[in-house]
Amino acid sequence: MERNRPGASKMVDTAETGEWSEELARCYCEGMEANVKYDHRPCARRIAADLSTCRPGLTAPVVLDVAAGPAFLLLELAPHLPGARLLANDSAPVMLDLAVERARARGLEVEPLLCPAEGLTLADQSVDVVICKHYLRLSPDPLRLLEECHRVLGPDGVLYLVDFNGEASKLKARVLWTWIRVMNSKKLAQEFWESFAGGYPVSSVPPRCVAAGFASATVLRRGLSYLVRATRVG
Ligand SMILES: C[S@@+](CC[C@H](N)C(=O)[O-])C[C@H]1O[C@@H](n2cnc3c(N)ncnc32)[C@H](O)[C@@H]1O
Repeated sequence: MERNRPGASKMVDTAETGEWSEELARCYCEGMEANVKYDHRPCARRIAADLSTCRPGLTAPVVLDVAAGPAFLLLELAPHLPGARLLANDSAPVMLDLAVERARARGLEVEPLLCPAEGLTLADQSVDVVICKHYLRLSPDPLRLLEECHRVLGPDGVLYLVDFNGEASKLKARVLWTWIRVMNSKKLAQEFWESFAGGYPVSSVPPRCVAAGFASATVLRRGLSYLVRATRVG
């Protein structure tokens, strides 16, 4: 591990190791589903808008969701990218089953890729767009993860990273923590706090991308969560 984090609850631990039981994974998926319209959907819209600016000619791209879980973000992005080939990576078979199920329910096809994000079983330069949400902070080897994202991207390929921002306002995070506690449960609020506390400062993310080989990296959003775009050289 790159650094120590505060003692984590079961679900946070499980997200980190990727060792999900069927029951816990389905519980996570159901719990997060309610959040999709506030979180993954606007995030997908922002990514699609950015792609239309930085990759205007992109048609039917190959899109890889790294550590996809049930592919929430990938499936929200899909309607913005007609004809896209959708690949979902995770180290947990049950998460990929959920991703495939959720895709089918939407009339889409997701190709599961069971392997560690730090050792993607994909050819060099075989992907146009990589998305990775809420995994950078969990990766046992963030540099290797970013290097793998870089390796699989083709010329002008783009990586979008979304995660909690370790340098965001603690006050804002406490407000959200209180809201989750009131609207959901103490347990979920605790999980949110532990995840938030584990996020890297957003200012450290672009240099990490450049160290992994990306030509440039830009912060597109910096709030409690960040969105960073990293671009491979053409
Ligand atoms: C916090 S969840 C995020 C899921 C999804 N990206 C989202 O935002 O909803 C972290 C995911 O990383 C997966 N994971 C953990 N270790 C992994 C690894 N080494 N390689 C690939 N996926 C991993 C877990 O199984 C889990 O699905």
